[in-house]
Amino acid sequence: MLPELVTAIPGPRSLELAERLRAHESRNVTYVSPHFPIFWQEAASANVWDVDGNRFLDLTSGFGVASLGYTPAAVVEGAREQLGRLYHAMGDVHPTAEKVELCAKLSALTFESWGVGPGKAILTNSGSEAVEAALKTAWLATHRRGVLAFEGGYHGLGYGALTVTGRKLFRDPFAAQLADFASFLPFPDVQQTAHRTAFSRSAEALLAPGDIGAILVEPVQGRGGEIVPPEWLLPELRVLADRFGVILIFDEIYTGFHRTGPRFGCERSRAWPDLICLGKALTSGFPLAACVGRSELMDQAWPESTGEALHTSTFLGNPLGCRMALESLALLEGDSWEERVLALGMHLADGLRNLRGGCLGAARGIGLMQGIEVINGKGTPDAGRAGALVEAMLARGILLLGGGTEQNILSFTPPFVIKPSELDFALGQLRDLAG
Ligand SMILES: Cc1ncc(COP(=O)(O)O)c(C=O)c1O
Repeated sequence: MLPELVTAIPGPRSLELAERLRAHESRNVTYVSPHFPIFWQEAASANVWDVDGNRFLDLTSGFGVASLGYTPAAVVEGAREQLGRLYHAMGDVHPTAEKVELCAKLSALTFESWGVGPGKAILTNSGSEAVEAALKTAWLATHRRGVLAFEGGYHGLGYGALTVTGRKLFRDPFAAQLADFASFLPFPDVQQTAHRTAFSRSAEALLAPGDIGAILVEPVQGRGGEIVPPEWLLPELRVLADRFGVILIFDEIYTGFHRTGPRFGCERSRAWPDLICLGKALTSGFPLAACVGRSELMDQAWPESTGEALHTSTFLGNPLGCRMALESLALLEGDSWEERVLALGMHLADGLRNLRGGCLGAARGIGLMQGIEVINGKGTPDAGRAGALVEAMLARGILLLGGGTEQNILSFTPPFVIKPSELDFALGQLRDLAG
């Protein structure tokens, strides 16, 4: 449904909550301005209602989580049934059938479906922790401390994940406490002619000394600004990983579960990792993520538990989260999402390309992971204008996020259930504001 606004934005109740929040939440967490944020009350499909009764159209999927739209009936019903019965167990001691089902499902959807063999999972409470579980696995398997990662890459903000996140903004304030095991290569961008041979030479120079045990990459950089690499990138990394005996980790926390079209971003170029990190849309909204690896590798890396797990947490394999994941995965398997996402993505990409002009620059992306640059008169990134556009779109009832290493990309990652007419409405509003 299109937006329906009944108050000024933010409305009085949102403004009041923002004031209270400022008093009691660490001030770095939630950005508060006279125009931002709105406080959510409920959500369905691609719509969010705020506490003032305004209806918004969401082009963010709440950070790429609500791919199926908000509150899909099967997930809600499954969660209700689970909630009334059991919503906490002892994840690494006395677990639940839901955890068994989910681990088996994750194996079936990843390594088994690629014909690689069975997979084994470590469930976690956030994407950041899933990446850290992957880093630990690679270390245990290789005993080589280095990790090759990419500039602009985003893998989460826990100290381990931050160490391999290629964004100064997040790293610099903590640089003195970050370990030095990551090396970063520029992320090849399909829009700028990226040369495979030159890329391989740089990667080889880093891998040849033998200190690097893992390569970590997003199949499409999400928070880095919807940057699509050339199709050769993942196959080339596979070749390099095999040649240098390195563990290849795909961080599909954003790209997973059809965000780019196929079930996983890596399926576009048919290159398979040794470890894959999953999160976000996995549960449709419960904080649960996973690191899944080839069984052989997982068993080589991790010793059998004799009573004390080396990597676990209180809420590991939470039954409500597992149940929500199982319900979400059943929905994600039960429809032709790939065609739908690619068709909607094409529609969105065409619309964004047509907006070019004034402060709107090049559009980029794949599937329902699209972005458009905001630039100033000199053609350079304009983060201030991008932020102003996000606020102005909010005032028109459209939820958008800014992104990119220069903070000047408007990101479009809507739920897969959004209608072309709703996308057109949002693009029309952007044209209006940017013109
Ligand atoms: C590719 C990628 N990896 C990891 C993360 C971190 O996940 P979380 O925020 O759940 O810790 C994100 C979050 O945006 C992400 O996009």
